[in-house]
Amino acid sequence: MRLGEVVAIPTETVYGLAARIDRPDAIKNIFLLKERPLFDPLIVHVARFSQVSAVAESLTRAEEALARGIWPGPLTLVVKRRPDLNPMICSGLESVGIRCPKHPFARRLIDRAGAPLAAPSANKFSRTSPTQVQHVRSFWNEAELMIVDGGPCQVGIESAVVRLREEAPGKIQLEILRPGSISDLALSAPLIAAGFEVTVSRTQDSSSPGQLADHYRPGIPLVLLPSGILPLASERVEWIASALGVADLRYRALELDFSPQLAARELYSELHRLSDTDNGFLVFEDSVEKQAPGWDALWDRLRRAASLDLRTNREFSCP
Ligand code: TXA
Ligand code: MG
Repeated sequence: MRLGEVVAIPTETVYGLAARIDRPDAIKNIFLLKERPLFDPLIVHVARFSQVSAVAESLTRAEEALARGIWPGPLTLVVKRRPDLNPMICSGLESVGIRCPKHPFARRLIDRAGAPLAAPSANKFSRTSPTQVQHVRSFWNEAELMIVDGGPCQVGIESAVVRLREEAPGKIQLEILRPGSISDLALSAPLIAAGFEVTVSRTQDSSSPGQLADHYRPGIPLVLLPSGILPLASERVEWIASALGVADLRYRALELDFSPQLAARELYSELHRLSDTDNGFLVFEDSVEKQAPGWDALWDRLRRAASLDLRTNREFSCP
């Protein structure tokens, strides 16, 4: 990896837009290429636990237990940053998100670079994240950016973003700022094994600046529907098209496996595939199976990707 360069690389979650943390021009370039506002911090990728000290102040015992228990894998841990870390990476916050990816290419690249890599997902700001190289190529061409083809991403949705608070000695609050593919139980396990008492909470406030409502947007609008409503009656199609302000009355249904692991792998690639059309809109139908444990991270992404959520709309709930 050349100094000062931004490279699109595969990780096990989604493709990332990576640059060395010690190259300010390249870090700035990530924001420019992505058209990302500077208030949304990047996460830093390390090849192994020992590299954390290049980015963060010393970790608490609980933070270390969690990182060592889950890494390499789809967990971003928000910890106190080192004072000399480029403030652009963490948008001036006192904290930094760190993750050790499991993907062998990503880890080898970080090793060879000899420095941690800052990398957001390799999509333009607010658009659907890429899980295949052609998704990255739909945003940039090879003249703008070096793009590494690592095949499809195995996990398919972004890492869980987590912060720990020690409420009392031995009592940890595990705050999930962005849900990911790891269950609450699996996240708690390394902490419990290290002797901590754990409570899990979900936060969706400005402390995770990237948790904006309109994220992951596909090329044509997505509408969330209550269960049992497809195929849509023509008056409903007209109602939706008018609410969305689209002239085309054709729609396509997003279909995902009921298994949350498989659904996560399919989600973004289906959103990319289905919006590669001139049809009016996409729909996704709720069902009891999609309320199963493991679906919360998927609903988090679907809600942010959707332009309209009609799941609790009265007219749509009583066919
Ligand atoms: O799986 C992933 O996490 C992928 C791959 C490429 O590693 N990366 C990714 O990056 O999803 P990005 O930038 O698209 O999302 C990072 C999220 C954002 O929501 C950001 O606001 C949050 O992490 N974040 C980063 N640093 C933070 C911090 N210090 N405090 C709170 N939230 C932070
Ligand atoms: Mg992203």
